[in-house]
Amino acid sequence: MKGYSENYWAKRAKQYNKTNWVKNENFMVRFLGMLPDKKYEPILEVGIGTGAVAEKVCEKIGPLTGIDISKEMISQIDHPEITPILGNAHCLPFDDSYFKLILMRNVIHYIDDPELAFSEIYRCLMPNGYFLFSQVVPPDDSISEEYDRLVGRNIHYPTQGEIIQLFSIYRSVTQDNFILKNQSIINWINNTCNDKYQKKHTIDRHRQTSDTYKRLSNFSETENDMFVDIKHFMVLGQKI
Ligand SMILES: C[S@@+](CC[C@H](N)C(=O)[O-])C[C@H]1O[C@@H](n2cnc3c(N)ncnc32)[C@H](O)[C@@H]1O
Repeated sequence: MKGYSENYWAKRAKQYNKTNWVKNENFMVRFLGMLPDKKYEPILEVGIGTGAVAEKVCEKIGPLTGIDISKEMISQIDHPEITPILGNAHCLPFDDSYFKLILMRNVIHYIDDPELAFSEIYRCLMPNGYFLFSQVVPPDDSISEEYDRLVGRNIHYPTQGEIIQLFSIYRSVTQDNFILKNQSIINWINNTCNDKYQKKHTIDRHRQTSDTYKRLSNFSETENDMFVDIKHFMVLGQKI
């Protein structure tokens, strides 16, 4: 049990959009650009959060429904073409084979049972429907344990290998990486953590990382901050 309940997200909701990567335009272009040029309707986003991806989906593809366990996160959404619903990825309140496109970004590291969420998504996709997925991953699968310790908070960041395994039921799978360069650790900590001792420990852990992590993440340091490249693994699966 990871314990990332609604309460955790209630505390993060107001600050969430201030984290640098959330609305990164280059990421959105690459991510949504993985989709074949088709008409998609209906569309669902699982773990929609504050609607950062959803706003781009409306602009480039069409209206959508979004589901999330946190009412505080979805209360940040104010868009005529987004329909937010309170609910859990473990048990999607939709009929089988209903959606033509389902999206999910940066949710499964907070989910207790990723396999169950993936099978729910698969169930709700129509035949030939698409699942467009993105997730922050360690810079290399070989340093997964160090990465989890570094971030702390009892989170396991899935490796690329684990994600590919979750996609094994899909007919065709395409993958891409997007590297967010030179991301501020202080910006990330200030918008993800309210406890000053936890903040200090996370900063100390970043200073003490291995040379391998520092090399792979392009680590640099100034007097007041540290910077690393953050890897997003993006996958597009099509249902059989
Ligand atoms: C890191 S945020 C990502 C939000 C959004 N997808 C984005 O990329 O900006 C993770 C989101 O997943 C939601 N979440 C966590 N566990 C969930 C679950 N079991 N079912 C639905 N949503 C969940 C959280 O409430 C939060 O809004």
